[in-house]
Amino acid sequence: MTLFRFQLYPILLLLLPLLFKPILAFPLHKIPRLTANYKEAFISRNPNNDNSPPTISKDYKKYFYTQTLDHFNYGPQSYATFKQKYVVNAKYWGGGKSNAPILAYLGEESPLDVDLDFIGFLPDNAPYFNALSVYIEHRFYGESIPFGSSDEAMNNSTTRGYFNSAQALADYAEVLLHVKEKFSAHYSPIIVIGGSYGGMLASWFRLKYPHIALGAMASSAPILYFDNITPQNGYYSVVTNDFKEVSKSCYQTIRKSPLKNSSKLKDFLDSMYSTAAQYNHPPKYPVTMVCGGVDGAPKGTDIIGRIFAGVVSYIGNYTCYDMDMYNQPTSETSVGWSWQTCSEMVMPIGRGENDTMFPALPFDLQQFIEDCKSSYGVPPRPHWVTTYYGGHDIKLILNRFGSNIIFSNGLRDPYSSAGVLEDLSESIVAITTHNGSHCLDLHPVRKTDPEWLVMQRNIELTIIEGWITKYYADLHALKK
Ligand SMILES: *[C@@H]1O[C@H](CO)[C@@H](O)[C@H](O)[C@H]1NC(C)=O
Ligand SMILES: *[C@@H]1O[C@H](CO)[C@@H](O)[C@H](O)[C@H]1NC(C)=O
Ligand SMILES: *[C@@H]1O[C@H](CO)[C@@H](O)[C@H](O)[C@H]1NC(C)=O
Ligand SMILES: *[C@@H]1O[C@H](CO)[C@@H](O)[C@H](O)[C@H]1NC(C)=O
Ligand SMILES: *[C@@H]1O[C@H](CO)[C@@H](O)[C@H](O)[C@H]1NC(C)=O
Ligand SMILES: *[C@@H]1O[C@H](CO)[C@@H](O)[C@H](O)[C@H]1NC(C)=O
Repeated sequence: MTLFRFQLYPILLLLLPLLFKPILAFPLHKIPRLTANYKEAFISRNPNNDNSPPTISKDYKKYFYTQTLDHFNYGPQSYATFKQKYVVNAKYWGGGKSNAPILAYLGEESPLDVDLDFIGFLPDNAPYFNALSVYIEHRFYGESIPFGSSDEAMNNSTTRGYFNSAQALADYAEVLLHVKEKFSAHYSPIIVIGGSYGGMLASWFRLKYPHIALGAMASSAPILYFDNITPQNGYYSVVTNDFKEVSKSCYQTIRKSPLKNSSKLKDFLDSMYSTAAQYNHPPKYPVTMVCGGVDGAPKGTDIIGRIFAGVVSYIGNYTCYDMDMYNQPTSETSVGWSWQTCSEMVMPIGRGENDTMFPALPFDLQQFIEDCKSSYGVPPRPHWVTTYYGGHDIKLILNRFGSNIIFSNGLRDPYSSAGVLEDLSESIVAITTHNGSHCLDLHPVRKTDPEWLVMQRNIELTIIEGWITKYYADLHALKK
């Protein structure tokens, strides 16, 4: 942990060039974290945050499914198993006899417990649908780790090979069929729900497993940030626009401020601006908080002083700031996600000169491949996601294949630059909100929710209800 003493900040300004030598062996090209979970991305390291464990009521029952290690091969090792965690809340369920629906949350790149704490979409809507709520943990995270321990599983190139999205989707398929069996819910329609990487998984699950999921709700899923479908600078352009839209002077100050050389401080500020934009949630709106500090500094304050005021306004007034707050390379989530981005989830995110408020940092695929090879011993496959799931010409393709997917995006979320922002067909629809942020619609309903967020959720519910109604009509007609 590197503590940067802002207390000494006037002296430090003079010393900056000495203290922050360029880090030559900067490990990997930095790809902003995904995750639906604001807490995971930021608050967990904020000294302001209470790190209390999630409060999950007794209605949530935890189970373990004996999962197949390798769904796609028939070698002896493929038949190994591990325990995969899933959690069920049956409190509002109408029962299998009435074919009441199942809302299934597909875990993302974090322990399930962390998500259980903040995903509001299921508990808020299960009563309305009389639905069974099911949450499934992603393999290699939390308590769903093969080979005994995370160290064992992650520190061995053979075992890491089983850590990929296709295996994860197959896991979800098995667990959901198992749950249907267990709850005698053979004809219950399943709606899969996910946010961020989990949102990508939800949309892909509907495309790959239409016989299991009736529909998918994919919140803030940047399924187009692969294979250069989206321009590299999409992400940082949105961050830049967010700041510009809140305050031109704030944007100008930040634009003029960036430290030229790679340093912890520069990296910290990069992450702070990006995180503020990505999770620019009401009621506080972090971008507005940062800019409030930057613009509100006393007259005559220099640029670095204004930037510091922005840090204080957003993060708080402390004597020390942890420059690694956004950089937790040893956390389980970061370890897992690093592997995923270095194997399959290669998102070419970068920026050129003068095309954002940040200094240039182009994505260099060759360098990225080399870095991944030296970290993991195997090169990434940057074209695999589009080969396996598609993405190119998505409207042309999905207009005539697939149905029942909601792609929701808040346009303030930098990852919305790679989201599906227009309807692809009658039932593959895009729902966007001008002022929305990353996965905001999945968060619990709050009294302070702005009208546009309330409306967004209502539209989503109406669409899902339409899918279910139509399904029941078909089921009724066919079973006669
Ligand atoms: C920035 O890096 C360049 C080249 O690596 C070096 O010449 C220069 O002194 C550095 N400047 C600071 C402020 O560290
Ligand atoms: C991983 O393996 C390397 C040697 O291959 C070893 O140095 C390192 O300590 C191991 N890390 C863990 C977390 O087990
Ligand atoms: C990696 O894990 C496999 C499966 O558990 C094991 O057979 C193999 O010996 C391990 N390799 C190393 C280098 O530890
Ligand atoms: C931060 O706290 C210190 C000490 O309490 C105070 O002197 C200073 O004015 C505060 N700074 C800001 C920007 O609020
Ligand atoms: C970027 O902006 C600077 C300052 O306005 C200018 O000197 C430089 O030529 C620009 N670079 C490009 C590639 O446009
Ligand atoms: C978005 O937020 C801004 C304030 O930051 C407000 O002026 C604007 O009306 C909002 N737009 C919508 C569509 O709600």
